[in-house]
Amino acid sequence: MSKFIIEGGRKLSGSIRVKGAKNAALKIIPAAILSKEKISISNLPKIEDIDKALHLLNDLGATINQRGDRLEISTANIAKFELNPEFANKFRASIMFVGPVLARFGEVKFPHPGGCVIGAGGRPIDLFLEGFKCLGAEIGVDGNYYHLKAKKLKGCNYFFPLISVTATEALMMTAVLAQGTTTLKNCAMEPEIKALADYLNEQGAKIKGAGTPTITIEGVEKISGGGFKIIPDRIETGSFAIMAAATKSNITITDCEPEHVQALLSIFNKIGVPFEAGRDFLKIKEAKKISSYSIKTHEYPGFPTDLQPPYTVLMTQATGSSLIHETIYDRRLLYVDNLLQMGADITMCDPHRVVVNGPAKLYGKKLTSPDLRAGIGILIAALIASGQTEIDNIYQIDRGYEDIDGRLRSLGADIKRIGTLNL
Ligand code: EPZ
Repeated sequence: MSKFIIEGGRKLSGSIRVKGAKNAALKIIPAAILSKEKISISNLPKIEDIDKALHLLNDLGATINQRGDRLEISTANIAKFELNPEFANKFRASIMFVGPVLARFGEVKFPHPGGCVIGAGGRPIDLFLEGFKCLGAEIGVDGNYYHLKAKKLKGCNYFFPLISVTATEALMMTAVLAQGTTTLKNCAMEPEIKALADYLNEQGAKIKGAGTPTITIEGVEKISGGGFKIIPDRIETGSFAIMAAATKSNITITDCEPEHVQALLSIFNKIGVPFEAGRDFLKIKEAKKISSYSIKTHEYPGFPTDLQPPYTVLMTQATGSSLIHETIYDRRLLYVDNLLQMGADITMCDPHRVVVNGPAKLYGKKLTSPDLRAGIGILIAALIASGQTEIDNIYQIDRGYEDIDGRLRSLGADIKRIGTLNL
């Protein structure tokens, strides 16, 4: 199993370019199934989860040409409506293929999506099934497999009982080819949702309200092909901004959208992290003293759950106590054991709340990356810690951050990869 070896305690400097958003790309790739014409995509991140999505699409019969960060997809010849469990079981976002295959073929078979350790009980998909049923699908369940059928999807009105990013995206894209109008209420508002709607509208879809709680989709017979650039990854942007603040470094983050990380930047103003924000860059400057500040994760535009682990690491270096309240997922605070081993002063109040006291000196340890965002948090802790840290299971970092060690070395970090990058 590959691992990182990090010698911590060094300041970083220079600039780092943000890649295309993983959580935008993982939706536009399956959305290509909605059109029989060619789709071209640029600014695609080279990460494991994208590779899994392309393997699944290829298995369905699509033609895929990839050159660097550019991709061409043709789904004209796909004829299969069963998602290959060998691929679909390995990443949660395989659920995004269900709606487009159902809309295209009137039928889809798939396993319960796997691949993500956070969230309770294998991450439920009840909102997806309720929504597809609302659009006219019959739902068959056989053990861990689902079989959905719908001669013709019909527009409907659906109110999400709780806010879900991918369920919003799944129903929005599926309704594009339904007969009549669909109104979705209590939708998620993440930037990736508006980006997906913009891509689909350029192909002839009629989606209004993406990025607000109410989205209406007027069904069309078919949509054309198109060419799209993936929006910058706001979680990479926030992770690197926190990394700069935590290592007391001057770092410029380029090709990003500061607008998409307002929740973090508003806190930087409060805790004493100086920064300059431009249209597509963020300059983080060395903070003399960082004050503690409590957060509660919240759907967009609130503080994103995906930045909770890196932020918690930052709070270990802040002066004072901070309450970290994780409201979105179960099990998303389990990683703090790693920080305790490194010397952090953290008290677990309940499975959703921890209190961090700082500043605490961190020491290098042998650790394991438990999940993607906890992994980048532990990596930031390793950059702060004195001495050597070894992180194994770094697949759980590579799957979301392209060439993270190469990019950190260009900032002056002492990080080595042992073993190969299994892309
Ligand atoms: C998306 O996951 C992101 N993944 C996650 O990023 C992100 O953490 C999350 O949104 C919240 O912002 C992708 O876009 C691929 P949810 P998603 O449905 O849509 C519950 C990362 O690190 N729920 O908004 O799966 C669910 O259990 C990943 O990049 C149901 O109960 O998250 C959770 O408690 C991690 N039933 C809550 O909703 C359902 O049918 C919100 O999750 C669906 C979700």
